[in-house]
Amino acid sequence: MSERKKIINCNVTDPNKILPFQYPWARVHYKTGVANNWTPEEVPMQQDIELWSKQGEGALTEEERRMIIWNLGFFSTAESLTANNIVLSIYRHVTNPESRQYLLRQAYEEAVHTDTFIYICDSLGLDPDEVYNMYLTIPSIKEKDDFVIKMTESIMDPQFQTDTVENIQKFVHDLVGYYIIMEGIFFYAGFAMMLSMLRQNRMVGVGEQFQYILRDETTHLAFGADLINTIVEENPEIWTPEFKQTIIENIKKSVDLEVAYAQDSLPRGIMGLNTEIIKEYVEHIADRRLERIGLEKLYGSNNPFPWMSEIVDLKKEKNFFETRVTEYQTGGNLDWD
Ligand SMILES: [Fe+2]
Ligand SMILES: [Fe+2]
Repeated sequence: MSERKKIINCNVTDPNKILPFQYPWARVHYKTGVANNWTPEEVPMQQDIELWSKQGEGALTEEERRMIIWNLGFFSTAESLTANNIVLSIYRHVTNPESRQYLLRQAYEEAVHTDTFIYICDSLGLDPDEVYNMYLTIPSIKEKDDFVIKMTESIMDPQFQTDTVENIQKFVHDLVGYYIIMEGIFFYAGFAMMLSMLRQNRMVGVGEQFQYILRDETTHLAFGADLINTIVEENPEIWTPEFKQTIIENIKKSVDLEVAYAQDSLPRGIMGLNTEIIKEYVEHIADRRLERIGLEKLYGSNNPFPWMSEIVDLKKEKNFFETRVTEYQTGGNLDWD
């Protein structure tokens, strides 16, 4: 490895000198993000509006409504929490220019996601005071947010510097909280629930928007894991058995919180979804996250939702929107023009 490379504490290179690139992967993630550009208004909400207000046959059940509202409540505030984390703490410490270019792109995507929940609330006529307070009023949502806030509090301190082994460990610990736990685990029971709904042709506009958010979050997570792995590679002394164990314990705890959230969102199970299946899925993705940052998997659970990976793979399609339209038109459930 070249002596010059340093993704944090970039006192050896000029943070404005982006060329030549030192971390080509950061550039690839940036380009992927740009290629996946979308805005919530591109997704028609008419069918959702009709279904949301429908009574009688074919109307949403109480269970379906609870699941939708719980997920809107969690995501509506989690998206801006993530955006704040990037801008207020991560950006200051990740001084490499091409990584910062990616962080600016990610911050923009989080603004699009925040905008998505404003658009959904407006379209469905939801009470913003209810939805945007659920991170305080619903314990299973509050516990997830509190866990991330607590886990990442050290680098929110304006005096924090990544200048010692202990502080670099703190930084990586907090990056695991932001990227691996918040974006890589806490979003995923919600993704599975909302995309199952889309597969049943229920709330198709909201479902499509969750599909695009999932596609974006896959890139956020990939960047976060590459960032964590690079810091560890450049500072191998931080990667002690005790430190790895702390990270593993945090991931385990996050799986428990995510399963509790799924149980609370969907207490009786619907559409072939229940807490057991979601637990298996969350464990499966937690194993993948652990392996992605060089740790051993913990659960060995199978993926009960292979179709979720197919959705992520849609990003490989060159013309994503055309592909999507064709697919939905074949299914006869989306009027796109
Ligand atoms: Fe997001
Ligand atoms: Fe994100």
